[in-house]
Order: sequence, then structure tokens, then C-alpha cells
Amino acid sequence: MPHARIALDRDFTVGEVPHRIFGSFVEHMGRCVYTGIYEPGHPTADERGFRRDVLELAQEMGITVVRYPGGNFVSGYRWEDGVGPVEQRPRRLDGAWHTVETNAFGLHEFMDWTRVAGVEPMEAINLGTRGVEDARRLVEYANHPGGTELSDLRRANGHADPFGIRLWCLGNEMDGPWQIGHKTADEYGRLAQEAAKAMRLVDPDIELVACGSSNSAMPTFGAWEQTVLTHTYDVVDYISLHAYYQEHDGDAGSFLATAVDMDHFIDSVVSTADAVRAKGRHTKRIDLSFDEWNVWYQRGRDTDDQPHVIEARGEWREHPRIIEDEYNVTDAVVVGTFLNSLLRHGDRVKIANQAQLVNVIGPIRSEEGGPAWRQSIFWPFARTAELARGTILRTAVTSDRYESAAFGDVDLVDVAATYDEERGRVALFLANRGLDDAADVEVALRGWTAGRVTRAEVLTVPDGGDRRSANREDAQDVVGLTGLDGVTTTEAGVTLRLPALSWAVVEVEVTPV
Ligand code: AHR
Repeated sequence: MPHARIALDRDFTVGEVPHRIFGSFVEHMGRCVYTGIYEPGHPTADERGFRRDVLELAQEMGITVVRYPGGNFVSGYRWEDGVGPVEQRPRRLDGAWHTVETNAFGLHEFMDWTRVAGVEPMEAINLGTRGVEDARRLVEYANHPGGTELSDLRRANGHADPFGIRLWCLGNEMDGPWQIGHKTADEYGRLAQEAAKAMRLVDPDIELVACGSSNSAMPTFGAWEQTVLTHTYDVVDYISLHAYYQEHDGDAGSFLATAVDMDHFIDSVVSTADAVRAKGRHTKRIDLSFDEWNVWYQRGRDTDDQPHVIEARGEWREHPRIIEDEYNVTDAVVVGTFLNSLLRHGDRVKIANQAQLVNVIGPIRSEEGGPAWRQSIFWPFARTAELARGTILRTAVTSDRYESAAFGDVDLVDVAATYDEERGRVALFLANRGLDDAADVEVALRGWTAGRVTRAEVLTVPDGGDRRSANREDAQDVVGLTGLDGVTTTEAGVTLRLPALSWAVVEVEVTPV
């Protein structure tokens, strides 16, 4: 039986759990906004057109911050199109997703939605087709109390109080040749620096995210971060990371190991940011905003919801289905390991946004006029957001390993752990990457005595299913959490058995010694 030993020590910590790492992302893309979070006329819609069923699932997921309005969409977006009387808003072509944008949903609707949902907004500005002036004007419109043309326009449009948006992204994936208004690192770095300066002159309390690489396989990865941060170091707070992973050619072993790549990606960006800090003799530290991450089956599909198929059809439609990936058990285990990676790096990754919230590679799915349901990947996110509280613990893991084609030798058991001193609980977030065998896990708790098990749940292959089992509109609860039996505590720690291919959460009461 595969086996892993994990040692946790009350004094060996990473830092506080950054509450913003449980973020999500709403882009004007496909059916994320329209028929996702917003659908006037839906049986559950409130008076503003917000779908209550989707909203309740977003709240159940425990998301803390939502990035908006894109994504690639933002690089051709005029924020003014989305404010003012709805009937006067223009219909426009969105080149990023070959879609007609009605602008029925814009900044005010988004801000209202974040208030109802109880989440923090994270607003991206357009540095593709626009620049310093529009960025400055948007901050004034959103955050200035009143007495100027733009702040009074916000008031006239129904919002007397400033929105008070603190978190801003300086564009999106500007290193990518696919991006509208794509730039070199020097062009973007200078533009971001000047936009940041102008935005801060309007509101000095904002926090700014500079664009890092679109993914770590970009040919400019590393050099991009170095150049951009050299230009922007003094005026930004974070550098962004984006990463999407998928299973290739049925190689589940490599797919299940992709959090190893995520760990490495984060470590590389931390090193680059710190090298710029040293070279520039800066005292402040730049933290990381992992503001797009998920499983996304980007390659090898020609279904009707693929961007290249939509573009090739040549039609322009309102909110077509785009990348409505269906997630299975394997995907959920992988997503659990991504959350573990983010937690393990919680000393530097201070913001993270799973992309996206609903329908578009979303943990939540919804149908127009129909139901909303949870995909498999909803569960590890919801439980980690609920139970990862207090302090992140360092994990010393001695696990049996396996050879993966893409990432070499990898631990079978992946783990992150937190200690909530206030509630006297240690929470363990565990994944068994092994496809065939259960794994026995012993957890030594040093500096506490262990008491009652307060939570023990597992997501694994359902009875009669297989690793590709998934939730669908007509079978919404095939993959979910069930009780994990057999978790035992002694004074020294916890022992448990993880089923083959599983993600689990175990929470125990602890008393410091
Ligand atoms: O989340 C989908 C798309 O992926 C975003 O618009 C873009 O930023 C990324 O490439």
C-alpha cells in the first residue's frame, strides 16, 4: 500500500492565509456574464437581473474577490459603453471572442453584483487599445467622491458613493501576440508605469497588478517580468501569473502532477521579482497575483464552443457558448492540488483568481431559463476556501513517488495544511495522485495534541463510475464529497487512508502543548 508521512510543527509556518487567494473571474466572454450571473427574466432573477441560483452557488464556493471585465475582452473595451441608461448603451463587436457585446451589463451592474455577493471587485483597465488618459478617467469615475465631471456622472448614473475599488489590473496578458494591442515588454512596461502613476494621482490608496507572462511557456517568460518590473517597480504592488493545464493524450499521471509545474512557476516569478528588487536596491517587495488559473481543455477540440471554430464560422452572436468545459473527477483532484500550491506559497501569492466563475471553464454551470449546478471542481475550491483559515503550516512530506512523463519523479500524496488558532483546528488538504491504489497517510502534529476529528470528506471516483465521471444538467450530483471513514487521531497526530485518485479535507481539534 503506498504510504506518506507528513510532519507539521506549530512553529514552522508560511504566513497567514491571504483571503484574496480564493478569488474568481468574471469576463465578458461566452455565457459567463449573460445567462451566467446575469439573466433578467430567469425564474430566479432579482430585480436587477442577477440570477439568485448562480449567486448562491458563488457564495457557497466562498469566493472572496472577483476580477472583471476581462481577460482578452478588456483589451478592446471602452468602459464608458457600460455605464448610463441601458437603452442608450452601444452594441459593439468584441474582437477578442468574435461576439456582439450588448453592454447591458457594465461597471454599475458588476459593482452591484459584488455588493450582493459580498466579494471584493478587482477591475482591469484596457492597456491594449487605450492608455493613460482612459485609465485615469476610470479611476476618477469609480473612486472620486464627487464635484468633477466624471464623479458627478457616476452619481447621475445612480451611485452617489464612490465605488472605492482598491484592486486594479494594468491590462491583461500584454505579452501575448493574440492580445488586441499586444506590446513588447519595454512598450508595456513604460505604459503601465505611466498609467499607474496617473491612476495613483487620482487615488493613492489603490493597489496595482502589472501583467506578467501569459504562461510560463511563453518565449519571453522571465525576461518579460524582469523588464516590466524594472519599469514599474516603484508604482505597482503585484505581478500577475496565468496558467491553464489539461490532460494530454490520456496521460493522467502527468496531468495529476501539474501542480509541480505551478510550484515551479511561482518560485521562478518570486526569484525574478526579487532579482529586480536587489538590482534596483528597492526595499519594498513585489507580491504575486495568480489572477487566472484552472484546468482548461484548450487543445485538441473542435467542438462548437471553441474560439477558433466560432471565428471560422464568421458569425457574430450575443453570448455564444465558449469553452464550456465539463470537469470530471481527475480534474477536481488536480484543482485541489493547485489550491494546495497556492496555499504553500501564501507568503508571496497574495491574490489568486480561478478562471472563470460560471459556464466559461467554470466550477458553476447554468442554462438559460434553466438550472445551475456545481461541477466537480467546485468542491475542492469550496472546502479549501471554507476551512483554510489562520496560519499556513510548512509541510514536511515523505511520500512514495511515481514517475510522470512530463515532470519526472513526483510525490503520490500532495498536501497543504493550516492552523486556525482561534478555533483550535488544524485543517489538512490532501490529494492521492495514484490512479490504482489507496494511500495510507500518517500526520505528525508537533506542538499540539490532537483531539476530535471535526471534518473528514473525500471526493473520488463514484460507485459505478470512473475517473472521467462528471456532473451534468440531468445528473448534477454524480461527483461530490462523501464522508471519509477511518480517520483516527492519537495524541501525536492523525492517520487516514486516501482512496485511489482522491482529494480530501480533514480537520481536527488541536490543543497547543
Ligand atoms: O480565461 C480565458 C482567457 O484566457 C482570458 O480571456 C485570457 O486572459 C486568457 O488567455
